Amino acid sequence: MPFDEANAVLFSGASHPKLTEAIAKSSGVPLGALESSEFPDGETFLEIKESVRGKQVFVLQTIAHRPNDYLMELLIAADALKRASAKEIIAVVPYFGYCRQDRKDRPRVPITAKLVANLLAKAGITRLIAMDLHADQVQGFFDIPVDHLSARILLSDAIKKDGFEPGVIVAPDVGSIKIARAYSEELNIDFAVVDKHRVSASSVEVHGLIGDVKGKDVLLADDMCSTGSTLVSAAKACHEKGAKQIIAAVTHGLFIGPAIELLEQSLIDVIYVADTIELSENAKKLKKLRSVPTADLFGQAINCTISNKSIVSLLQKKMFLK
Ligand code: R5P
Repeated sequence: MPFDEANAVLFSGASHPKLTEAIAKSSGVPLGALESSEFPDGETFLEIKESVRGKQVFVLQTIAHRPNDYLMELLIAADALKRASAKEIIAVVPYFGYCRQDRKDRPRVPITAKLVANLLAKAGITRLIAMDLHADQVQGFFDIPVDHLSARILLSDAIKKDGFEPGVIVAPDVGSIKIARAYSEELNIDFAVVDKHRVSASSVEVHGLIGDVKGKDVLLADDMCSTGSTLVSAAKACHEKGAKQIIAAVTHGLFIGPAIELLEQSLIDVIYVADTIELSENAKKLKKLRSVPTADLFGQAINCTISNKSIVSLLQKKMFLK
Protein backbone atom coordinates (compact mmCIF):
# COMPACT_ATOMS: atom_id res chain seq x y z
CA MET A 1 0.00 0.00 0.00
CA PRO A 2 1.68 3.28 -1.07
CA PHE A 3 0.02 5.29 1.70
CA ASP A 4 -1.29 5.22 5.21
CA GLU A 5 -4.63 3.60 4.50
CA ALA A 6 -5.83 4.19 8.03
CA ASN A 7 -5.60 7.91 7.47
CA ALA A 8 -7.63 8.22 4.26
CA VAL A 9 -11.30 7.62 3.66
CA LEU A 10 -13.67 8.11 0.72
CA PHE A 11 -17.30 9.14 1.17
CA SER A 12 -19.98 9.03 -1.48
CA GLY A 13 -22.54 11.71 -2.09
CA ALA A 14 -25.93 10.57 -3.35
CA SER A 15 -25.22 11.38 -7.00
CA HIS A 16 -23.01 8.51 -8.14
CA PRO A 17 -22.38 5.76 -5.53
CA LYS A 18 -21.50 3.27 -8.26
CA LEU A 19 -18.54 5.38 -9.40
CA THR A 20 -17.45 5.98 -5.78
CA GLU A 21 -17.43 2.22 -5.14
CA ALA A 22 -15.38 1.59 -8.28
CA ILE A 23 -12.89 4.29 -7.23
CA ALA A 24 -12.62 2.81 -3.73
CA LYS A 25 -11.90 -0.59 -5.25
CA SER A 26 -9.34 0.79 -7.69
CA SER A 27 -7.54 3.04 -5.19
CA GLY A 28 -7.74 0.81 -2.11
CA VAL A 29 -9.10 3.73 -0.09
CA PRO A 30 -11.86 2.49 2.24
CA LEU A 31 -15.41 3.72 1.83
CA GLY A 32 -16.69 5.78 4.74
CA ALA A 33 -20.16 5.56 6.21
CA LEU A 34 -22.39 8.55 5.71
CA GLU A 35 -26.14 8.84 6.05
CA SER A 36 -28.06 11.44 4.17
CA SER A 37 -31.79 12.00 4.38
CA GLU A 38 -34.42 14.66 3.93
CA PHE A 39 -36.37 16.45 6.64
CA PRO A 40 -40.13 16.64 6.00
CA ASP A 41 -39.67 20.25 4.81
CA GLY A 42 -37.16 19.20 2.15
CA GLU A 43 -33.94 20.23 3.94
CA THR A 44 -31.01 17.82 3.68
CA PHE A 45 -29.79 16.14 6.87
CA LEU A 46 -26.46 14.35 6.84
CA GLU A 47 -24.44 12.44 9.41
CA ILE A 48 -20.88 11.11 9.17
CA LYS A 49 -21.13 7.71 10.87
CA GLU A 50 -17.45 7.28 11.84
CA SER A 51 -14.60 9.35 13.23
CA VAL A 52 -12.67 11.43 10.70
CA ARG A 53 -10.52 13.32 13.21
CA GLY A 54 -7.12 14.09 11.65
CA LYS A 55 -7.98 12.17 8.46
CA GLN A 56 -7.57 12.95 4.79
CA VAL A 57 -11.14 12.75 3.56
CA PHE A 58 -12.33 12.45 -0.04
CA VAL A 59 -15.97 13.13 -0.93
CA LEU A 60 -17.31 12.23 -4.36
CA GLN A 61 -20.20 14.19 -5.77
CA THR A 62 -21.10 14.72 -9.41
CA ILE A 63 -23.25 17.82 -9.80
CA ALA A 64 -25.67 16.65 -12.49
CA HIS A 65 -29.35 15.72 -12.86
CA ARG A 66 -30.31 17.25 -9.48
CA PRO A 67 -27.55 19.88 -9.34
CA ASN A 68 -29.06 21.95 -6.53
CA ASP A 69 -29.61 18.94 -4.24
CA TYR A 70 -26.21 17.43 -4.93
CA LEU A 71 -24.32 20.68 -4.58
CA MET A 72 -26.07 21.39 -1.29
CA GLU A 73 -25.36 17.87 -0.06
CA LEU A 74 -21.66 18.31 -0.87
CA LEU A 75 -21.55 21.62 1.01
CA ILE A 76 -23.33 20.09 3.99
CA ALA A 77 -20.95 17.08 3.97
CA ALA A 78 -17.96 19.44 3.92
CA ASP A 79 -19.37 21.37 6.86
CA ALA A 80 -19.97 18.18 8.85
CA LEU A 81 -16.46 16.89 8.08
CA LYS A 82 -14.85 20.21 8.98
CA ARG A 83 -16.68 20.29 12.31
CA ALA A 84 -15.63 16.65 12.89
CA SER A 85 -11.95 17.74 12.64
CA ALA A 86 -11.01 16.15 9.30
CA LYS A 87 -7.46 17.23 8.42
CA GLU A 88 -8.17 17.72 4.72
CA ILE A 89 -11.43 17.59 2.77
CA ILE A 90 -10.93 16.83 -0.90
CA ALA A 91 -13.95 17.11 -3.19
CA VAL A 92 -13.84 14.67 -6.09
CA VAL A 93 -16.25 16.20 -8.60
CA PRO A 94 -16.31 14.22 -11.87
CA TYR A 95 -18.85 16.63 -13.40
CA PHE A 96 -18.76 20.17 -12.08
CA GLY A 97 -22.28 21.49 -12.64
CA TYR A 98 -22.85 25.25 -12.93
CA CYS A 99 -19.52 25.42 -14.75
CA ARG A 100 -20.94 26.67 -18.05
CA GLN A 101 -21.96 29.99 -16.52
CA ASP A 102 -18.35 31.12 -16.31
CA ARG A 103 -18.54 34.71 -17.60
CA LYS A 104 -20.83 37.71 -17.61
CA ASP A 105 -21.82 37.72 -21.27
CA ARG A 106 -24.77 40.06 -20.83
CA PRO A 107 -25.89 42.48 -18.13
CA ARG A 108 -27.32 41.31 -14.82
CA VAL A 109 -26.38 37.61 -15.05
CA PRO A 110 -24.38 35.62 -12.46
CA ILE A 111 -21.08 33.79 -12.80
CA THR A 112 -22.14 30.58 -11.11
CA ALA A 113 -18.83 28.77 -11.65
CA LYS A 114 -17.17 31.37 -9.42
CA LEU A 115 -20.04 31.30 -6.93
CA VAL A 116 -19.79 27.51 -6.56
CA ALA A 117 -15.99 27.74 -6.21
CA ASN A 118 -16.45 30.24 -3.37
CA LEU A 119 -19.11 28.09 -1.70
CA LEU A 120 -16.99 24.93 -1.78
CA ALA A 121 -13.96 26.65 -0.24
CA LYS A 122 -16.08 28.44 2.36
CA ALA A 123 -17.72 25.13 3.36
CA GLY A 124 -14.28 23.66 4.13
CA ILE A 125 -13.16 21.93 0.93
CA THR A 126 -9.35 22.14 0.80
CA ARG A 127 -8.70 20.65 -2.65
CA LEU A 128 -10.69 19.79 -5.77
CA ILE A 129 -10.18 16.88 -8.14
CA ALA A 130 -12.27 17.54 -11.25
CA MET A 131 -12.52 16.25 -14.80
CA ASP A 132 -12.80 18.24 -18.04
CA LEU A 133 -14.08 21.50 -16.60
CA HIS A 134 -16.02 23.40 -19.23
CA ALA A 135 -13.12 25.86 -19.51
CA ASP A 136 -9.59 25.48 -18.13
CA GLN A 137 -9.66 28.95 -16.64
CA VAL A 138 -12.37 27.88 -14.16
CA GLN A 139 -9.43 26.51 -12.13
CA GLY A 140 -8.54 30.13 -11.46
CA PHE A 141 -11.89 30.70 -9.74
CA PHE A 142 -10.59 28.56 -6.86
CA ASP A 143 -8.13 29.72 -4.23
CA ILE A 144 -7.52 26.08 -3.28
CA PRO A 145 -5.47 23.56 -5.34
CA VAL A 146 -7.33 22.02 -8.29
CA ASP A 147 -6.26 18.80 -9.98
CA HIS A 148 -7.81 18.90 -13.42
CA LEU A 149 -8.04 15.47 -15.05
CA SER A 150 -9.19 14.70 -18.56
CA ALA A 151 -11.11 11.73 -19.95
CA ARG A 152 -9.65 12.33 -23.40
CA ILE A 153 -6.99 9.62 -23.20
CA LEU A 154 -9.51 7.08 -21.86
CA LEU A 155 -12.00 7.91 -24.61
CA SER A 156 -9.48 7.87 -27.44
CA ASP A 157 -8.09 4.61 -26.12
CA ALA A 158 -11.59 3.05 -26.16
CA ILE A 159 -12.12 4.31 -29.72
CA LYS A 160 -8.82 2.80 -30.86
CA LYS A 161 -9.56 -0.49 -29.11
CA ASP A 162 -12.84 -0.73 -31.06
CA GLY A 163 -10.84 -0.35 -34.27
CA PHE A 164 -12.12 3.12 -35.26
CA GLU A 165 -9.59 5.23 -37.09
CA PRO A 166 -11.11 8.67 -37.64
CA GLY A 167 -9.65 10.76 -40.44
CA VAL A 168 -10.57 14.09 -38.91
CA ILE A 169 -11.60 15.47 -35.50
CA VAL A 170 -14.51 17.89 -35.58
CA ALA A 171 -15.21 20.47 -32.87
CA PRO A 172 -19.03 20.78 -32.84
CA ASP A 173 -18.72 24.44 -31.85
CA VAL A 174 -16.07 27.10 -31.37
CA GLY A 175 -15.99 26.44 -27.61
CA SER A 176 -14.85 22.88 -28.26
CA ILE A 177 -11.83 23.81 -30.39
CA LYS A 178 -9.41 23.31 -27.52
CA ILE A 179 -10.67 19.81 -26.71
CA ALA A 180 -10.79 18.90 -30.44
CA ARG A 181 -7.23 20.12 -30.92
CA ALA A 182 -6.11 17.97 -27.98
CA TYR A 183 -7.74 14.91 -29.59
CA SER A 184 -6.19 15.83 -32.91
CA GLU A 185 -2.72 15.94 -31.30
CA GLU A 186 -3.41 12.72 -29.41
CA LEU A 187 -4.48 10.86 -32.56
CA ASN A 188 -2.24 12.83 -34.91
CA ILE A 189 -4.96 13.89 -37.38
CA ASP A 190 -6.42 17.18 -38.67
CA PHE A 191 -9.36 18.96 -37.11
CA ALA A 192 -12.30 20.96 -38.39
CA VAL A 193 -14.85 23.24 -36.67
CA VAL A 194 -18.61 23.63 -36.93
CA ASP A 195 -19.87 27.21 -36.79
CA LYS A 196 -22.76 26.80 -34.35
CA HIS A 197 -25.12 29.44 -33.07
CA ARG A 198 -27.19 28.66 -29.98
CA VAL A 199 -30.79 29.81 -30.48
CA SER A 200 -32.05 28.70 -27.05
CA ALA A 201 -30.98 26.39 -24.22
CA SER A 202 -32.25 23.41 -26.23
CA SER A 203 -31.77 24.34 -29.87
CA VAL A 204 -28.86 25.37 -32.08
CA GLU A 205 -28.33 26.49 -35.68
CA VAL A 206 -25.35 25.50 -37.79
CA HIS A 207 -24.01 28.19 -40.12
CA GLY A 208 -21.14 26.28 -41.69
CA LEU A 209 -18.20 23.95 -41.29
CA ILE A 210 -14.60 25.14 -41.44
CA GLY A 211 -12.24 22.39 -42.60
CA ASP A 212 -12.35 19.30 -44.78
CA VAL A 213 -14.41 16.24 -43.85
CA LYS A 214 -15.23 14.96 -47.36
CA GLY A 215 -14.78 11.20 -47.65
CA LYS A 216 -13.39 10.98 -44.11
CA ASP A 217 -14.50 9.21 -40.95
CA VAL A 218 -15.25 11.88 -38.37
CA LEU A 219 -14.79 12.03 -34.62
CA LEU A 220 -16.92 14.74 -33.00
CA ALA A 221 -15.26 15.75 -29.71
CA ASP A 222 -16.91 17.79 -26.96
CA ASP A 223 -16.74 18.15 -23.21
CA MET A 224 -20.42 17.38 -22.72
CA CYS A 225 -23.70 16.38 -24.30
CA SER A 226 -26.74 17.93 -22.67
CA THR A 227 -29.83 18.11 -24.91
CA GLY A 228 -27.88 16.49 -27.76
CA SER A 229 -28.68 19.30 -30.19
CA THR A 230 -25.02 20.34 -30.63
CA LEU A 231 -23.80 16.85 -31.53
CA VAL A 232 -26.80 16.04 -33.71
CA SER A 233 -26.54 19.28 -35.74
CA ALA A 234 -22.78 18.91 -36.07
CA ALA A 235 -23.22 15.34 -37.37
CA LYS A 236 -25.74 16.62 -39.93
CA ALA A 237 -23.32 19.32 -41.08
CA CYS A 238 -20.52 16.75 -41.45
CA HIS A 239 -22.81 14.41 -43.37
CA GLU A 240 -23.85 17.21 -45.73
CA LYS A 241 -20.18 17.97 -46.39
CA GLY A 242 -19.54 14.36 -47.39
CA ALA A 243 -18.26 12.72 -44.18
CA LYS A 244 -18.41 8.92 -44.05
CA GLN A 245 -18.76 7.32 -40.63
CA ILE A 246 -19.46 9.70 -37.74
CA ILE A 247 -18.59 8.86 -34.15
CA ALA A 248 -18.61 11.11 -31.08
CA ALA A 249 -16.65 11.32 -27.83
CA VAL A 250 -17.86 13.35 -24.86
CA THR A 251 -16.73 13.38 -21.25
CA HIS A 252 -20.01 14.26 -19.57
CA GLY A 253 -23.27 12.67 -20.73
CA LEU A 254 -26.13 14.64 -19.22
CA PHE A 255 -28.59 13.46 -21.88
CA ILE A 256 -31.43 15.78 -20.90
CA GLY A 257 -35.03 15.58 -22.15
CA PRO A 258 -35.31 13.95 -25.58
CA ALA A 259 -31.50 13.75 -26.03
CA ILE A 260 -31.46 9.96 -26.19
CA GLU A 261 -34.20 9.83 -28.84
CA LEU A 262 -32.45 12.59 -30.83
CA LEU A 263 -29.14 10.74 -30.70
CA GLU A 264 -30.83 7.46 -31.61
CA GLN A 265 -32.26 9.01 -34.79
CA SER A 266 -29.11 11.00 -35.56
CA LEU A 267 -26.39 10.38 -38.12
CA ILE A 268 -23.93 9.49 -35.35
CA ASP A 269 -22.93 5.84 -35.46
CA VAL A 270 -21.32 5.43 -32.03
CA ILE A 271 -21.10 7.75 -29.01
CA TYR A 272 -18.37 7.26 -26.41
CA VAL A 273 -19.10 8.83 -23.03
CA ALA A 274 -17.09 8.76 -19.82
CA ASP A 275 -18.99 7.56 -16.73
CA THR A 276 -18.72 10.86 -14.81
CA ILE A 277 -22.54 10.96 -14.62
CA GLU A 278 -24.68 7.89 -13.95
CA LEU A 279 -26.61 6.89 -17.08
CA SER A 280 -30.40 6.89 -16.85
CA GLU A 281 -32.28 3.68 -17.65
CA ASN A 282 -33.35 5.30 -20.92
CA ALA A 283 -29.74 6.13 -21.84
CA LYS A 284 -28.65 2.57 -21.09
CA LYS A 285 -31.04 1.41 -23.83
CA LEU A 286 -29.21 3.42 -26.50
CA LYS A 287 -27.30 0.76 -28.40
CA LYS A 288 -24.86 3.20 -29.99
CA LEU A 289 -23.70 4.46 -26.57
CA ARG A 290 -20.42 3.15 -25.09
CA SER A 291 -19.72 4.00 -21.45
CA VAL A 292 -16.02 4.43 -20.67
CA PRO A 293 -14.92 3.91 -17.03
CA THR A 294 -12.98 6.64 -15.22
CA ALA A 295 -12.54 4.96 -11.80
CA ASP A 296 -8.89 3.98 -12.32
CA LEU A 297 -7.92 7.51 -13.28
CA PHE A 298 -9.71 9.06 -10.30
CA GLY A 299 -8.32 6.28 -8.08
CA GLN A 300 -4.78 7.05 -9.16
CA ALA A 301 -5.30 10.79 -8.67
CA ILE A 302 -6.48 10.02 -5.12
CA ASN A 303 -3.47 7.79 -4.46
CA CYS A 304 -1.12 10.52 -5.76
CA THR A 305 -2.81 13.03 -3.45
CA ILE A 306 -2.43 10.73 -0.45
CA SER A 307 1.22 9.98 -1.14
CA ASN A 308 2.05 13.53 -2.23
CA LYS A 309 3.09 12.44 -5.70
CA SER A 310 2.82 14.52 -8.84
CA ILE A 311 -0.26 13.87 -10.97
CA VAL A 312 1.45 15.01 -14.17
CA SER A 313 1.88 11.40 -15.29
CA LEU A 314 -1.92 10.98 -15.15
CA LEU A 315 -2.34 13.70 -17.73
CA GLN A 316 0.02 12.08 -20.20
CA LYS A 317 -0.69 9.46 -22.75
CA LYS A 318 -1.02 5.91 -21.44
CA MET A 319 1.08 6.56 -18.31
CA PHE A 320 -1.82 5.84 -15.98
CA LEU A 321 -3.36 2.94 -17.83
CA LYS A 322 -3.07 -0.37 -16.00
C1 R5P B 1 -21.02 24.09 -25.07
O1 R5P B 1 -20.28 25.03 -24.95
C2 R5P B 1 -20.65 22.69 -24.69
O2 R5P B 1 -19.32 22.39 -24.99
C3 R5P B 1 -21.56 21.70 -25.36
O3 R5P B 1 -21.37 21.78 -26.74
C4 R5P B 1 -22.99 21.98 -25.04
O4 R5P B 1 -23.16 22.25 -23.69
C5 R5P B 1 -23.85 20.82 -25.47
O5 R5P B 1 -25.17 21.14 -25.17
P1 R5P B 1 -26.36 20.46 -25.98
O6 R5P B 1 -26.13 18.98 -25.96
O7 R5P B 1 -27.58 20.88 -25.21
O8 R5P B 1 -26.37 21.03 -27.36
